[in-house]
Amino acid sequence: MQKLNQIAEQAVLSAEQAVSLQQLDEVRIHYLGKKGQVTEFLKSLANISPEERPLIGQSVNQAKETIQEAIQKRLEELKSAELAKRLAGETIDVTLPGRGHAEGHLHPITRTIMRIEDYFTQLGFDITGGQEIENEYYNFDALNIPAHHPARAMHDTFYFENGLLLRTHTSPGQIRYLEKKQPPVRMIALGRVFRCESDVTHTPMFHQLEGLCLDKNICFSDLKGILKDFLQFFFEDELAMRFRPSYFPFTEPSAEVDMQCVMCKGKGCRICKNTGWLEILGCGMVHPSVLAPLGVDTDTINGFAFGVGIDRLAMLRYQINDLRLLFENDIRFLQQF
Ligand code: FA5
Ligand code: MG
Repeated sequence: MQKLNQIAEQAVLSAEQAVSLQQLDEVRIHYLGKKGQVTEFLKSLANISPEERPLIGQSVNQAKETIQEAIQKRLEELKSAELAKRLAGETIDVTLPGRGHAEGHLHPITRTIMRIEDYFTQLGFDITGGQEIENEYYNFDALNIPAHHPARAMHDTFYFENGLLLRTHTSPGQIRYLEKKQPPVRMIALGRVFRCESDVTHTPMFHQLEGLCLDKNICFSDLKGILKDFLQFFFEDELAMRFRPSYFPFTEPSAEVDMQCVMCKGKGCRICKNTGWLEILGCGMVHPSVLAPLGVDTDTINGFAFGVGIDRLAMLRYQINDLRLLFENDIRFLQQF
């Protein structure tokens, strides 16, 4: 009996001291396994008298139970310790800042176009687009630029083989619009145009804003007023501007508008070719030779048209020192806006 108690005591102690599930299992095998201490003990009692048998059997069962309880208790302790350890390892600090999303944004040209549309919609102008592939009639002839007219040479045109071309300006939009709607009209046409040229203020693809306003009694001061007001709205500032007499076959009189160069504040630099000014648009009173073939009564109806370089507006507003940067899609450049 003393030996049995010793075995049980030792087993309980070993179970309590087991530091892992594996060690605990070894304890179980060592004491309760087929060749374990308790079984061995039973075997050693082979010659015991039948009277003593029940008592000893009861004691052995009790010892087994004690040992099993101790193992079970330790098993639960070890399991919950393990769980606690795993949970501690998986803890999330919910107060850490998130990783954030890389957010895209609108291209400076898109933003410029939206500002332009904002302004002219408020004045009740129709917004149209026109088409990028045009023919010579709409791009030139209908605008009073017949074949062999020197003004054709001013546009470095991209021609297709079949007589079509990439429009060099948005002015063909005037003709297409007037074919559908007779005056009074107020419309703008925005879009891409193409010319074979490239330097700090010219790109082969750029954007123009065409404006057309025809009605009774419209005069040059209306044109000047709306352009001045538009530019003030656009730049949210009174930048210096000037009207300079110019020539377009489809307007008479004609003018171009220059804005003071924002890069050098008019002192003269590479961008403005040392003039202190940057040309942003052409305009004028629409020539009767353009209107008459479209069925407009030029005795009572007249008006103005203008063609603005949208990219030049963006260049001045965002102080971009090379227009070509806008279309190179360098993310380091675009992220600055
Ligand atoms: C025209 O294209 C005329 N159609 C404008 C017009 C419309 C006059 C209606 C009268 C009535 P011009 O070639 O000057 O004009 O171009 C107009 C504007 O487009 C220029 O002032 C300039 O701001 C811009 N521009 C011209 N070429 C380029 C280019 N390669 N890259 C970027 N902007 C350009
Ligand atoms: Mg010009």
